[in-house]
Amino acid sequence: MVTPVNTQCRLAARPVGLAKPTDWTFTDQAVPNPADGEFLVRVEYLSIDPAMRTWMNAGRSYVPPVEIGAVMRAAGIARVVESRHADFAVGDEVYGVFGVQRYALADGRGVTRVDTTLAPAPVHLGVLGISGLTAYFGLLDIGRPEPGQTVVISGAAGSVGSVVGQIARIKGCRAIGIAGGEEKCRWLVDELGFDAAIDYKAGDLHAQLKAHAPNGVDVFFDNVGGEALEAALARLARGGRVVLCGAVSQYNNAAGGGPANYMQLLVARGSMTGFVIFDYADRYAEGVAQLATWLGNGELRSREDVIAGDVTDFPDALLTLFRGANTGKLVLALSTE
Ligand SMILES: NC(=O)c1ccc[n+]([C@@H]2O[C@H](COP(=O)([O-])OP(=O)(O)OC[C@H]3O[C@@H](n4cnc5c(N)ncnc54)[C@H](OP(=O)(O)O)[C@@H]3O)[C@@H](O)[C@H]2O)c1
Repeated sequence: MVTPVNTQCRLAARPVGLAKPTDWTFTDQAVPNPADGEFLVRVEYLSIDPAMRTWMNAGRSYVPPVEIGAVMRAAGIARVVESRHADFAVGDEVYGVFGVQRYALADGRGVTRVDTTLAPAPVHLGVLGISGLTAYFGLLDIGRPEPGQTVVISGAAGSVGSVVGQIARIKGCRAIGIAGGEEKCRWLVDELGFDAAIDYKAGDLHAQLKAHAPNGVDVFFDNVGGEALEAALARLARGGRVVLCGAVSQYNNAAGGGPANYMQLLVARGSMTGFVIFDYADRYAEGVAQLATWLGNGELRSREDVIAGDVTDFPDALLTLFRGANTGKLVLALSTE
């Protein structure tokens, strides 16, 4: 029998710009044994998130930076393979922040059981996971859209954005997505029911937004920052809300530019509010229940972009997000070999 090895991806250096292969190192360690009150999991699916790039930087953020030499932080879905914990049994499928590695020890804190009879595991990293919850609470709690209002979403064909636009439609709003490329735009309108989609790569985002939102933007759900944010601010309706969810266009840019035309917030009597989904942890159950109902009755559609690979494929999987090569939730499925 081959002895299992715990392959781990560690941060070797703080990247400048896009992460390079030399910013990572891989180690093979013996699989650890759980102590009393712990359990061992085998990671099956890694959630690949744009925020991972920000966790690699030193400095103030909403979570501590990943230290040089540490296993890269990652959420994932894993199976319990050994347990000395009263609440977790061998065979349980669980969600937690297990890191970019094959095996991890857990004591139950921050770990939740995943019901794969409801939907396949990757969906629990997407629509029924943090992405769906971010869309749900960010749009409804921060954006506060009203029926008939215009909601514009940047990064609209991604994991969070694709859910935001669908919830906006469910709530009786007009949903306009901004995404890279014709194919993504077609998917948003034809498959997800967005009212319109703008391909920012086709140029003149300002003019396209003006054409699609002639009465202004009531809610701008921003995943991207940069040019998209500036264009939306320029068209913000009176009393408009900008939901600051993320700024993926700035994550590889140390200077992290802000909007040049932020005075448009004053002109529009608008607001721009940032949020971190972890602050909604005590309402996750409410959000998942609603998202699962919509998914079940067909009002909400999920799409996962699953790459099959191994821990060593993580660095390239992360770059996929910044190439815009994913549609929907990007997941790295670790081989079962
Ligand atoms: N606030 C919170 O608590 C919270 C929680 C979760 C996620 N987030 C944020 O939500 C946002 C979306 O995350 P996600 O997981 O759903 O990722 P995602 O949208 O599935 O993937 C990233 C997408 O960003 C776009 N992109 C990449 N580089 C870009 C650039 N330079 N300019 C414009 N677009 C670019 C690409 O789409 P195109 O092909 O369309 O360019 C890419 O597919 C991120 O900003 C993330 O940090 C925030």
